[in-house]
Amino acid sequence: MTVAETAAAIDAIRRGQGDDLLILGHHYQDSAVVAHCDAVGDSLELSRIAAASKANRIVFCGVRFMAETADILVRGPRGEDLGRRVYQPAPSAGCPMADMASADALEAAWAQIAAADPDSRWVPIVYVNSTADVKAFCGRYGGSACTSGNGLRVLRRFLDQGAKILFAPDQHLCANILRTLGYPEDSHALWQRELPDGGLTPDVIRRSRVIAWSGCCPIHAGFTSEDVAAARAAAPGATLLIHPEAPSPVAAQAEMAGSTKEIIAAVEAAAPGGSYLIGTEQHLVERLTADHPGLTIRPLRPIVCEDMGKTTLDDLLTTLRDWPESRRVTVDPALVPDARACVERMLAL
Ligand code: 13P
Ligand code: SF4
Repeated sequence: MTVAETAAAIDAIRRGQGDDLLILGHHYQDSAVVAHCDAVGDSLELSRIAAASKANRIVFCGVRFMAETADILVRGPRGEDLGRRVYQPAPSAGCPMADMASADALEAAWAQIAAADPDSRWVPIVYVNSTADVKAFCGRYGGSACTSGNGLRVLRRFLDQGAKILFAPDQHLCANILRTLGYPEDSHALWQRELPDGGLTPDVIRRSRVIAWSGCCPIHAGFTSEDVAAARAAAPGATLLIHPEAPSPVAAQAEMAGSTKEIIAAVEAAAPGGSYLIGTEQHLVERLTADHPGLTIRPLRPIVCEDMGKTTLDDLLTTLRDWPESRRVTVDPALVPDARACVERMLAL
């Protein structure tokens, strides 16, 4: 089949299914895939759209945790199958950062934190880039999910209530939020997941307001101060927009560190002739460049998330035509009530 034939076949199936089918695509997907999505968004927007949708078939062009989040939201409150199915066209597309935190490891850390600091109220906050069982761990202990778009609001809410926070899995998002909120370096500590006791003494745990898990996005965490210096030298006067999964000392050099949605909004609001350096995933940077010919847009340094790039038009067509069970995403029903509590606390904020 040629690309045009594949695209036409996808269009025909979409027309035939009407409102019963919802195709969601993350901003980091390839433009050829994005062209066939009913909604394109960041992880927060797509979670909201999945939750509000009445479609019986939701096809998630993105990575595993996103499709899992959609499945958590379309099931009944006790995990019952209500007949609404979530599919991921490229089921091997995961998120390496999500895989850096397991529920078992978090449970063990949680028990040690509680033993070291029994008089404080600790709450887990997990980035939506996490597995369903990590979300269930979070929900079980009264915590909330967050995204790069609302993380600041979620952390501020719990910190203002006097809680202490175990944040997983992204150490850099956590550090960026705390820097923006004005928390000093010594108010938070890093739980180094490969070390016994996270490398923290009971005294350090007691003195910390926040403990961050030592996970990171291998894509965004690779941005360096040298990248910023080189890009600024090549584009003097350009405005640097960067995703907060970048290390905090690097993000601090940007004119704005913001979620995917905030980066897009800043570009859309730009006056003609503006010059931008963008520190995020290359599929999005390329689309922004194509969509805004009146601006000069350069990547801070081109970085591709291979997992996000796994979804192809052929995968999408196969999913829509055959509905293979192997591409269906089904969260263990036993995890759903707690995982859902974790996600719904975020959606309610
Ligand atoms: P957003 O929450 O900005 O969509 O980011 C998701 C992601 O995977 C970023 O790497
Ligand atoms: Fe995960 Fe990073 Fe890829 Fe986002 S860009 S899906 S955080 S590996």
